[in-house]
Amino acid sequence: MKKIKLYEPAIGKEEIENMAEAAKSGYLTNNPNGWVRRFEDMTKEYLGVKHAIAVSSGTAAIQLALEVVRADYCFSSAFSFPAVKHAVLVLDGILNTKDIDSQTYNMKIGDYEADFADEDWYDCIIPIHLFGQSVDMDSVAQYVYESKRVGSVSVVEDAACALGAKYKGRFCGTMGDVGCFSFHPRKVITTGEGGMLVTDSEELAKKAILLRNHGIDPEKKEDLFHGYNYRMSEIAGAMGCAQMKKLDRLIERRRQIAAVYNECFYLNENLVTPPIQAEGCFHIYQSYVVRIAMMSESSTGNALYRNGIIKKLKEKGIDCAIGSYCLDLDKEEARKAAAQTIALPIHTKMSPDDAIYVAETLLEVL
Ligand SMILES: Cc1ncc(COP(=O)(O)O)c(C=O)c1O
Repeated sequence: MKKIKLYEPAIGKEEIENMAEAAKSGYLTNNPNGWVRRFEDMTKEYLGVKHAIAVSSGTAAIQLALEVVRADYCFSSAFSFPAVKHAVLVLDGILNTKDIDSQTYNMKIGDYEADFADEDWYDCIIPIHLFGQSVDMDSVAQYVYESKRVGSVSVVEDAACALGAKYKGRFCGTMGDVGCFSFHPRKVITTGEGGMLVTDSEELAKKAILLRNHGIDPEKKEDLFHGYNYRMSEIAGAMGCAQMKKLDRLIERRRQIAAVYNECFYLNENLVTPPIQAEGCFHIYQSYVVRIAMMSESSTGNALYRNGIIKKLKEKGIDCAIGSYCLDLDKEEARKAAAQTIALPIHTKMSPDDAIYVAETLLEVL
């Protein structure tokens, strides 16, 4: 039976050689001129930002970002992996959620006037560029402007899934005060586990560097601050340097697979709704998430039906997963998306024929 994985990192010769070199050097962490530093420099150059700080995971990046901007009252999307929620909770913050757009699955920020009373006290907006597609960032800017809080509301982008994705020509992660990326193996590039914060602010970068390493000043070697061990290892940094060189090629390949899927589902949109690329967005398809036509009036009924389809696909050798999680049951579109969506395999080791096979099998088991 043909087997198709949900995700498969593109680890080649250069990654292995770099990691071996890092291991043999004996300098496995905290090397001021080592692989992690090089990976940070490559990320800075790619994104055109002033500071990039590598950390141990995407969640660690989000937590540090929220801490350096001093976020207390945040709002974000009701449909996502729960990393933002956990980072806010760890910092004793308050998270409110916005419902999503049913087509892009991203937070729909809405009309400031309409929810003025509720939203007045937020000090941080966390757009999550889900599945590799940007949030409508003009609406975020407009919201901050209309709330007359420019300068007192921070924007922390959860770009965990969106390295290389763009909104109106600008890279995700570079439009707010701080951007956060993940290098988990399901992301476009990986370091095993890992993350990165980027910012143009020297002040925020300095604080994040301190927090990453127990609050210890790298020059003075003094413990100035509280902090964590959120460092990235040199072996992970070595893998990241090789991966970063391939980033554009890996994105192109994902977009090709997504185009094949789109074509397969085009004539069957009554059964399967493929993802859309919204106007002004360059989607990198970290995940290819489809919505299955509703079978039931209730979310539970839909989720049971959807879970049954995932099981049938797995039995036919196709690994797949739920789209994402509903973080607030009061948000209707988030609830529906959590019950009706499936993430199909997408990675650079798949051929166009594999994508056709997945799509045909899905249509067959519905
Ligand atoms: C939207 C989103 N944010 C944050 C994260 C957290 O990243 P990490 O797993 O590297 O901590 C993920 C991970 O899947 C994610 O999908």
